[in-house]
Amino acid sequence: MASSSQKFELLSNLFSNCIIFFFLFHSTLASTTLKVGFYKSSCPRAETIIKNAVNQAISQNPGIAAGLIRMHFHDCFVRGCEGSVLLQSTPNNPSEREHRANFPSLRGFEVIDEAKAKIEAICPNTVSCADILAFAARDSAYRVGGINYAVPAGRRDGRISIKEEANSLPGPSFNAEQLTESFAKRGFSSEEMVTLSGAHSIGVAHCPTFSNRLYSFNTTHPQDPSMDPLYAAYLKTKCPPPSGNNGDGSEEPTAALEFFSPYRLDNWYYIELKNHRGLLSSDQTLLSSSSTKEMVLHNAKHGHQWAAKFGKAMVKMGFLDVLTGSQGEIRRHCSFVN
Ligand code: HEM
Ligand SMILES: *[C@@H]1O[C@H](CO)[C@@H](O)[C@H](O)[C@H]1NC(C)=O
Repeated sequence: MASSSQKFELLSNLFSNCIIFFFLFHSTLASTTLKVGFYKSSCPRAETIIKNAVNQAISQNPGIAAGLIRMHFHDCFVRGCEGSVLLQSTPNNPSEREHRANFPSLRGFEVIDEAKAKIEAICPNTVSCADILAFAARDSAYRVGGINYAVPAGRRDGRISIKEEANSLPGPSFNAEQLTESFAKRGFSSEEMVTLSGAHSIGVAHCPTFSNRLYSFNTTHPQDPSMDPLYAAYLKTKCPPPSGNNGDGSEEPTAALEFFSPYRLDNWYYIELKNHRGLLSSDQTLLSSSSTKEMVLHNAKHGHQWAAKFGKAMVKMGFLDVLTGSQGEIRRHCSFVN
């Protein structure tokens, strides 16, 4: 039996350990957590300036919404949400922007640059490019899908961008298992992966990302049997058989990722998967695979639930490997390190 003084010592040790633990915990949180309203006093107009720039760009070209949402995804999945996707190559270092997954298809850079220039003019050195991109993706989702969510901010910008690192992005020929693994590596469940894939409710894909499904699926089936034949016939009118040498791909034709409402961010993506009109293999596989089929069917039925899950998953994505506190820098121009 412990004496009462031993008990006291035990308790007070426990107590001080708790305090130490609390401070440790608290200080790590302070340096790694993002905050809604981060620029409320340092640059109160930042979020409005970004929203205006995004809305204006989308009203001229609705495809920009798709571009900005995808750009945030490609930023976060490679080296974290620290703006590495925005950096231009330098003479000795090709950047992520040059990777096939980003060039020439990634679009919307000029919108980020424009918002950044306007913000620098009123609050220099304050708002990071990584945050601008996170806000711009949210504003896009709201504008073309009515999906709203608060964006925790306080990200800082990285100084490194390496072309090859974009190899780690999931590819259009991935099956459900590979997609699940790619997202699991970043801490996402397969349900969150299916939820985020709903972003393919808007935007386009260039023919080479899916034309094997039309012309050269496998030795016995030139055409992917999981694709509606009428839809395949329609896609063939958009994408002639691959002709070999096509330069950098910027001249490649495109098709809408979602057939029914290609400019509206909604759950029709999932309904179209049920109709066997998913454009990429990585889309249609979500219905073919038993591990994700039920999620697709559920999202096809419950649009509001999907929209709420999408907002939540976008916020979670925005936390991936962020730089905070005194890490990194606040870039003056989003395409170049300071
Ligand atoms: C699940 C794995 C994913 C794969 C394999 C994938 C692959 C692709 C591919 C190949 C394209 C077409 C690029 C082109 O040729 O133009 C594309 C476009 C797009 N992706 Fe994904 N993606 C995935 C997940 C996501 C996620 C999580 C988001 C955002 C939350 C997203 C947003 C978009 C958007 C909006 C477009 C259209 C871009 C535009 O029109 O400019 N994708 N994706
Ligand atoms: C071609 O694909 C079909 C449908 O997925 C499959 O049933 C068949 O076994 C495949 N054939 C070859 C040779 O891989």
